[in-house]
Amino acid sequence: MKRGFVFLLPFVVILWLVLRAVLPITDLVAQDSRLPAEKAAGLTGETGVEANPVEDGYVGREVCRECHAGNYDLHAMHGHAHTFALASDKEVASKFAGREFDYGEPYGKYEYTQDEDGLSVRIPGQSEESFPLQYALGSGHHAITLLSLAKDAEKGTVAYEHRGSWFRDRDRIGRTPGQPLTVPESEAERFGMKHVDNVMQKCIYCHTTTGTVADQRIVGLTANVNCEKCHGPGAEHVRQARAMKEPPPFSIGSDKWDTESEIQLCGDCHRLPEAITLKELREYPDKLARFQPVGLLRSKCFIQSEGALRCTTCHNPHRTISEVSEAEHIANCIKCHQPEKTSHVSCPVSASEGCVKCHMPKYDFESLGTGFHDHWIRVHPED
Ligand code: HEC
Ligand code: HEC
Ligand code: HEC
Ligand code: HEC
Ligand code: HEC
Ligand code: HEC
Ligand code: HEC
Repeated sequence: MKRGFVFLLPFVVILWLVLRAVLPITDLVAQDSRLPAEKAAGLTGETGVEANPVEDGYVGREVCRECHAGNYDLHAMHGHAHTFALASDKEVASKFAGREFDYGEPYGKYEYTQDEDGLSVRIPGQSEESFPLQYALGSGHHAITLLSLAKDAEKGTVAYEHRGSWFRDRDRIGRTPGQPLTVPESEAERFGMKHVDNVMQKCIYCHTTTGTVADQRIVGLTANVNCEKCHGPGAEHVRQARAMKEPPPFSIGSDKWDTESEIQLCGDCHRLPEAITLKELREYPDKLARFQPVGLLRSKCFIQSEGALRCTTCHNPHRTISEVSEAEHIANCIKCHQPEKTSHVSCPVSASEGCVKCHMPKYDFESLGTGFHDHWIRVHPED
């Protein structure tokens, strides 16, 4: 009994130290709810970085930075870290304000202004009323689409996805992808395509770490796909890491993620076959290149390698793809395919270069402002 107590004592002391260390975080969180709306919404005007998130054991990526500066710095350059902001954010607003965009019939010409109430759009000559623009989705590496929440008699809250988007390609405003040209059923729908229920919630879900739509606002918002979106709430890990040198494995940390759970993780947003119609899955039109997990899952590289191939075989999940060189991509293929290795076949055409161009060609979708590499890795008939 006595020995047990002596054993426990250091832990009690550590626990006390840890609680003290953790308390300032809670202070910050409490303070935060008294900050101006922008900050409380999880955003600061300047960078779109979260102020301080909060619920259910989330601590925010700034806390992770303390011990994982390397991954933090990499992630800060990734599209994941910039994919949700306020429309009034300087960077975003400057791409719209003072500009016009003629959508054509039956919508009209949009004119954008930024003033103390934020960014808004109107249709000059039609009505003086302007339509407020609230959120901006997309990092702007390729495109930015604006989204506003509004009151709706039937649904309570609905989202309008604005009809004009900004495209990096030629620094222009153009039609938002994926919106059919139907006759608008209401004045609000002239400004944006209406999304309700799950579609609205999922739009926020895929571009943020936490947040749900209720009463025309996003409750518990932490913008962007941050550390804790993939790794889960970090409060307990941080508590343990502060208490001991080698904390036990954290949530779905590297050693716990198997191939299947990892493809589920990335596919949750990058799309799994379940999100695609059966007809499309059967015919596999070029546009499915946008949904990398769908292609990868039908590749022989995946099917015949018994779990050895997953997204992180080729992608560091923290590092933006724009920083990865072609040589690094080829090195990934050659991990398995090289003449010296008898366990895998090698290429009779080129054993050391150009793999991506021939076996994962890029399809450009001008309407999306970018292109995608077909992850159904195979010999293309035209080669
Ligand atoms: C919560 C949703 C979500 C999850 C989970 C997710 N992504 Fe993404 N991903 C996005 C969004 C949204 C973008 C678009 C970012 C932008 O606006 O530029 C993106 C962009 C990317 C890009 C291109 C942008 C860049 O800077 O490189 C890569 C590569 C990528 N994701 C890989 C992954 C991998 C690998 C995983 C799994 C480990 C993953 N993603 C998990 C939502 C997600
Ligand atoms: C199932 C998850 C998911 C949903 C739902 C979703 N997105 Fe995305 N979004 C992504 C991913 C993943 C990307 C990365 C590139 C791609 O696949 O187009 C992306 C990319 C984007 C981009 C381009 C970013 C860039 O610079 O490349 C914009 C803009 C965008 N989404 C807006 C929206 C809007 C607006 C909605 C809701 C109406 C929405 N998304 C719904 C996952 C999602
Ligand atoms: C898009 C999902 C995603 C995001 C966002 C993300 N991670 Fe990871 N992280 C992963 C995956 C997947 C692995 C496993 C990598 C592997 O097995 O190669 C991982 C591994 C790790 C590891 C262990 C391996 C290593 O690289 O040291 C650490 C630590 C880590 N992440 C920290 C972070 C931090 C800190 C952030 C935020 C700044 C973050 N992660 C953001 C998906 C993500
Ligand atoms: C006080 C320091 C500290 C803080 C803060 C911290 N970590 Fe860690 N973390 C560690 C240590 C120590 C390890 C174990 C050694 C290693 O893998 O680097 C670790 C390991 C990890 C791993 C790999 C776990 C595994 O099972 O392999 C992930 C993922 C991770 N941390 C994510 C995060 C995220 C996300 C945050 C922010 C929410 C965070 N960490 C905050 C110290 C910390
Ligand atoms: C984890 C190991 C692994 C990696 C990494 C890998 N492959 Fe494969 N790949 C396989 C396996 C297994 C097969 C089935 C034939 C064999 O056993 O070699 C295959 C088959 C192929 C085929 C023939 C497909 C068909 O339908 O006939 C091509 C082409 C190919 N891989 C190209 C690539 C390219 C390009 C890369 C890099 C972008 C790559 N592979 C990365 C394991 C891998
Ligand atoms: C065999 C290697 C390999 C695997 C496995 C792989 N990718 Fe890729 N991925 C690539 C290459 C190569 C590119 C193109 C890089 C470039 O040139 O920009 C790419 C590009 C991307 C992009 C940027 C948009 C595009 O399509 O060009 C995203 C997002 C992405 N991959 C997500 C994923 C996800 C999610 C998984 C897991 C389901 C995955 N990748 C598995 C090799 C791979
Ligand atoms: C110029 C286009 C081109 C380039 C570059 C290229 N390949 Fe190929 N690859 C082909 C063609 C065409 C075939 C089919 C050859 C045949 O069946 O005779 C093929 C076949 C393959 C096969 C299947 C071989 C088999 O025996 O079934 C693999 C694996 C492969 N390539 C991997 C790679 C890798 C890895 C690289 C980069 C180091 C690469 N390829 C570069 C065009 C290319």
